[in-house]
This record gives sequence, structure tokens and C-alpha cells, in this order.
Amino acid sequence: MTVSSAPGKVYLFGEHAVVYGEPAVPCAVERRATVSVSLRDDDHVRVRAEDLSLNGFTVEYSGSTGTRPDVDVPTPLVEAAMGYIDAAVEQARDAADAPDAGFDITVESDIPLGAGLGSSAAVVVAGIDAATRELGVELTPREIADRAYQAEHKVQEGQASRADTFCSAMGGAVRVEGDDCRTIDAPALPFVIGFDGGAGDTGALVSHVRGLRDQYDFAADTVETIGNIVRRGEKLLSEADPDSDPSEELLEELGEFMNFNHGLLEALGVSSRSLDSMVWAAREAGAYGAKLTGAGGGGCTVALDPTPETNTALRFTPGCEDAFRAELATEGVRVESEETGATERDQ
Ligand code: MEV
Repeated sequence: MTVSSAPGKVYLFGEHAVVYGEPAVPCAVERRATVSVSLRDDDHVRVRAEDLSLNGFTVEYSGSTGTRPDVDVPTPLVEAAMGYIDAAVEQARDAADAPDAGFDITVESDIPLGAGLGSSAAVVVAGIDAATRELGVELTPREIADRAYQAEHKVQEGQASRADTFCSAMGGAVRVEGDDCRTIDAPALPFVIGFDGGAGDTGALVSHVRGLRDQYDFAADTVETIGNIVRRGEKLLSEADPDSDPSEELLEELGEFMNFNHGLLEALGVSSRSLDSMVWAAREAGAYGAKLTGAGGGGCTVALDPTPETNTALRFTPGCEDAFRAELATEGVRVESEETGATERDQ
């Protein structure tokens, strides 16, 4: 059995705009998805998934991706979770040239599903790493990022950028602009996350922004302006010392850019009442800045505050279900344990 894990992420800047070739800066955070994979001696795939905000479910289905399990949880969530796992299995089989490989897979995650923290990317990244290692193939984090992107791209019907998957595979802060993906240096930023208990439909939200952008030049300008904020933000990060605590001046300016970024996302219609309430609660508690993170529609906000004030304020904010501090995850995908079976590597 091989066990791999990969982190979730927050967007410091640039979600949605990154889909149209603007840059984005996501940062990996210490909330991880862990995927355990054992090779089977038939071509079936058995998936056990817990802690995915799905109340846990266990399913067994044939290796063909057309078959859907019969379980008593909301179909769209199961379909989404299973779709990502299917796509990860397909990528692992392709990478190892083992089209008939079957797997027992267990997914555990402390990243809420569909809430803007990159849960699906983390599951796909960790899944590809564990499944390929089970098949005796060791991919680099960049190769895993690329395959995970292909998987997400397929599930999200062509509407995914490389940002979530690259960030989860590489860890730390990254910069993504189209196919140009790099890791960047950043000081440990004091992230505080608020979670409204809900989830947004990434595909529908991306389509909504695409529609607005096609229809109105001012919406296209809004997307471009988000790109300009990202460029200014990454310049600030590049001038900071990654090994020291961020200066107050840096936090103030980054915070201001985050507030701007949130306002533009709100204008594009991807915020929600609960996300806005959490953003305002954070600002009123003294956070340097706050914004939604990820696709929006519901899910999470991210604020910058080194003090406990934002965390406390969020806990008392109607609509906020959970609030927590998140450390930058400097490590991306990693193998947690490997019990080698009769794979090629051992012979
Ligand atoms: C979703 O986490 C982020 C979006 O920008 C979509 C993507 O980049 O694939 C909304």
C-alpha cells in the first residue's frame, strides 16, 4: 500500500481571472488530503472516502468510468468526488502504461469539499502520486501537477486553470499564468480562514464569469484589473525577505490589494452574503485585508491577521461555521508511507 498526501490552498490573488490567462498567486496551506492506494489483482477500483463532507461513503464499482455507485448521499457531490478519483486513476494507469490496473483507494481529507481550498486538486494530486508509486513509477511533482491538471480539466469540462493542481503538487506560494507555472518565495503570511459550511459549483461560477466577460467589455476589464492587482501583489512579495516575518508595511499593502480583489470578484457575481459577511467581520476585527478564496458562491474567505482578533470575530459571525489559522504548507505532494508489493521497482 502507498499513502500520499497533498495540501489544499488559498488564493492570495487571482482566482477566476487565471482562467483567462491572467496571473494568479495561490498559496498552499497545511490542510491535507491523504490517499491510500493498494494494487488489486483484477481491474476493479474500490473507493472508500471519508471526511469529504459527505458523511462518509464506501463504494465499489468496476474499473470502467461509466459505472456510478448506488449510495445514499447527494448525487452531485458523489459524482464530483468520484469523477476526480476516476480521472486520477486514468492518469496513473496512463503514466505507468497499465491500462488494466485495479486499485483499492481510501481518501481522507481535512479540506472541505468545493469550499475554495482546493480539495479536489489535493485529492487528484495525492491520488496520482500514490497510484503511480503502487505501479512502480515515480513522477516528479511537476509531472504530477501536469497530470492532475489534465484530470481536473477533464472533470471540469475544460474550465480549469493549472493554479490549484500546481500549487497542491509543489507546495508554498506559486505563480500561474496560463501554462507558465513557477514557485515563488514568500514570507509566512498570517492567514485566517473563515468557512460558511457551504460549497460553490465551480463549473457554474466559471461559466457565469465567462458569460459576463463575453457580454460586457467592463466585465472583461474587471478580469484584466484583477490581473493587474496580481502583478502588483507578486512584486511586493518578490521584494520581501522570505525568511523573516512579513513587515507591517507589506501586510498593509497586500491587505489592500486583497480587499480590491474581493470587490472585483463581488462585482463579477461570485461572492455571496455569507462570504461578504465574513470578509467584513475580518476587516472590522482589524485584519489587514480579506477576500473570498477559490470559485466563490459559498465556502471560504481568507484574511491576513497575525493577532487572534479575526479568528475570534469570525467565530461569532452569523453564517460562519468554522474559522482557523492556516500555516503556509511549504511541502507539496509527499509520500507518507510505502509498503512495496511485487512492483517492478522491487524486482
Ligand atoms: C477554483 O479553485 C479557481 C478558479 O479560478 C477556477 C480555476 O482556476 O480552475 C475559479
